[in-house]
Amino acid sequence: MTTGKFISLEGIDGAGKSTHLNPIAEWVRAQGHEALVTREPGGTPLGESLRQLLLHQSMDPDTEALVMFAARREHVVNVIRPALARDTWVISDRFTDASFAYQGGGRGVSLAHLRYLESWVEGGVHPDLTLLFDLDPQEARNRVLKGTPHPDRFEREQDAFFRNVRAAYLARAAAEPGRFHILDSSQTPDAIFAQVRQALDALLP
Ligand code: TYD
Repeated sequence: MTTGKFISLEGIDGAGKSTHLNPIAEWVRAQGHEALVTREPGGTPLGESLRQLLLHQSMDPDTEALVMFAARREHVVNVIRPALARDTWVISDRFTDASFAYQGGGRGVSLAHLRYLESWVEGGVHPDLTLLFDLDPQEARNRVLKGTPHPDRFEREQDAFFRNVRAAYLARAAAEPGRFHILDSSQTPDAIFAQVRQALDALLP
């Protein structure tokens, strides 16, 4: 059975990944495939409600990890898996790697717990390509401060938190080099998209 490809976009807040979601979808459509753009936390009605809690209500780090994965389960079962099964390509603004980076690296949640949740919740639905928009946390912070009048509780975290998040992303990338494509996000949007295109072209048969 042919299925669509699953592409996730990752990076610390301010790394500039969201700008590239729609251009990637346009590229997918130009190859003759359906494309679905979605995001985490969110992507379903329940997931979007949980997103509001996650971004604005403080909670214990393990609770935060569990709620992230609860939202993800809804997303996998109701949106991502059915789309892939009908040969639609899925482009998600964040997925499981964000939980390893933010809850694992940033908040110190046990990796063993996260790995268990990953295999339970994904049920075999894993990205084919993950674009990691990599940027120095100080530069990312300057971008967030310029573009976000009301930062959420993740965006309000300090540089040390984002250094840990970034290190955890890079560790995930080192563990699965075939899936990850690391992009230098300090470049101009056009130059970054040229890097994105290279990674996308490699997905074609
Ligand atoms: P995002 O949509 O990238 O933020 P914005 O709308 O401001 O561009 O992500 C929302 C926040 O959720 C982001 O700070 C990272 C965090 N997050 C986690 O901590 N763990 C996760 O598993 C996911 C998916 C997101």
